[in-house]
Amino acid sequence: MSENKIKITPAKGRPMLNWIGKKPLEYVKGFPAQLIEVFNPLNNSKKIETPTYEELKDNWQNLLFHGDNKEVLATLLELGFRGKIDLIYIDPPFKSGADYVRKVELRGIKEIGSLENDEASVLQQTMYFDIWNNDNYLQFMYERLQLMKELLSETGSIYVHLDWHVGHYVKILMDEIFGEENFRNDIIWAYKWASTTTRTFAHKHDIILFYTKSDEYTFNIDEVREPYTEEQLKGYKKDEKGYYTTDTSGKKWYAHPKGQIPSDVFNIPIISRSAHERLGFATQKPEVLLERIIKASSNPDNLVLDCFCGSGTTLAVAQKLGRRWIGCDINKGAVQLTSSRLQKIIKDQIKNNETKYPAFALYKVNNYDLKLLHTEAIELAVQHIGIQRTRTDTFFDGTLGKNLVKIIDFNHPLTLLDLQLLQDELKKRPDEDRDITIVCLGKELAVDAWIDEWNKKHPVNKIKVIELRTDKKYGSFLIHKPAEAKVEIKRENNKVFIEIKDFISPTIIERLNIDNQLWKVKIADFRAMIDYILIDTDYDGKVFNVVFSDVPQRKTDLIKGKYELEVNKDKTKIAVKIVDMLGEEVLIVKDI
Ligand SMILES: C[S@@+](CC[C@H](N)C(=O)[O-])C[C@H]1O[C@@H](n2cnc3c(N)ncnc32)[C@H](O)[C@@H]1O
Repeated sequence: MSENKIKITPAKGRPMLNWIGKKPLEYVKGFPAQLIEVFNPLNNSKKIETPTYEELKDNWQNLLFHGDNKEVLATLLELGFRGKIDLIYIDPPFKSGADYVRKVELRGIKEIGSLENDEASVLQQTMYFDIWNNDNYLQFMYERLQLMKELLSETGSIYVHLDWHVGHYVKILMDEIFGEENFRNDIIWAYKWASTTTRTFAHKHDIILFYTKSDEYTFNIDEVREPYTEEQLKGYKKDEKGYYTTDTSGKKWYAHPKGQIPSDVFNIPIISRSAHERLGFATQKPEVLLERIIKASSNPDNLVLDCFCGSGTTLAVAQKLGRRWIGCDINKGAVQLTSSRLQKIIKDQIKNNETKYPAFALYKVNNYDLKLLHTEAIELAVQHIGIQRTRTDTFFDGTLGKNLVKIIDFNHPLTLLDLQLLQDELKKRPDEDRDITIVCLGKELAVDAWIDEWNKKHPVNKIKVIELRTDKKYGSFLIHKPAEAKVEIKRENNKVFIEIKDFISPTIIERLNIDNQLWKVKIADFRAMIDYILIDTDYDGKVFNVVFSDVPQRKTDLIKGKYELEVNKDKTKIAVKIVDMLGEEVLIVKDI
């Protein structure tokens, strides 16, 4: 792709929030989008290597991106999507201080009793660390919101899902970027759950900021009206036209036949433990919530974007409601989960002849292998370097010997801004005399000189850096042992027989053993480690086209492991993709 710089419109202006390192985006650069996988069960759309808007507009397939949304959004601008998105919903990580964990269960445990202890079946895969410092968080959101505004159509809307941690800061960012005149509602999503707090009122609502691009926007009130309650209709009479009251002159006032206008307080329960839609993703939002937003602020065939898609709730609901969609997540597990969730929905829709959009393609933007493992890498860094985690300190991540440890977010190299923040933090702690160890994945050039200067001036709080990428002692743990599979692929005339004979994921085993030090984990059936299987019977060596998928519906079900499929060509390439419970993939290819 070109080196073109894409210009970003300056933010609207006041009111403004300031923070250390505030810098508006002026230009961004797109990145090459690499096509990874196409889900196209009807085999009726072509493989699009570069998904430009021009190419897609008469030949639509939905798009799922794996990558950092800053780069994905810039790429979308370059691909011609400026002003083309009708609705954006995002639910970004919001500085809650919690480590979000997706519980990954091995499959089929209850039935086959394949582990010696059932509790060991729950692998905890950290999805992302939601710990930010304010300045970095605000800059992170600022840049992305600016890009989203560029993509939003003139009649479009954006909903930003937050809570009490940063909701009010982001409101001011939104005012600056979208203009306070385009602010429509701060929706309260009120839910119930058991709280243990006794020193404040219990936190039982989230905030969803609703803005539009302009004053001319889509809003389908009749799609979201709510039925009147019996209580409300008590004084009403009924005739063939509906419920009515009369005024003093005997004129009839009818209650709206589709119900009343809903308020900006949404009373929607969180997803219960037993709910069918529950996927084990910690921050998964209820489909009903998204249904209300998508119905109100978009029309069928409109284009919906969620660039923090997590388990894919927005995209799932958009697909069900006949909207087109674009999704993105930086986390591979989240992308896999979204992909399998959408595959199931599309298969059902095809069975019932219910969709105009039966295909989607998965792209990767930039090379994220290091970034992807970032949350896991932090954990590994803690384990391998022997850092003691301190979860009560809002700035430092732990201690190492006598030193305080700061782990720099693996999304970016150590920068002068990070050092500035460290300096500010130390100023607030005049009695702190420990030295500092910084753990990072890389560092900017100017950093070494800054640290030398600092160490010369300071008898205490001396800074040492462990740079994982170059450090011989610790860097090696970033080498990841890949999963392996044994698959038999045989052809007889126009049939191919595929059997998964064995599968092993050293990472899953290692994780189980770390979590359960008291007993050794034994997995009796290797299929417990496999989440789903995808097969392409005409693989072109580059792009995986899902012709057949085995995605068990229930957690207690195992993949079948044996498949019999038709092949029509004399010579073809069979590709079998095995995705394990941690989202890792193994690809087996055979010419037949
Ligand atoms: C709160 S969750 C979204 C949950 C989602 N609404 C659902 O219903 O499942 C936030 C998601 O944002 C993703 N994320 C965080 N930083 C990102 C980035 N820079 N680019 C893309 N995705 C990111 C995380 O991996 C996580 O899956």
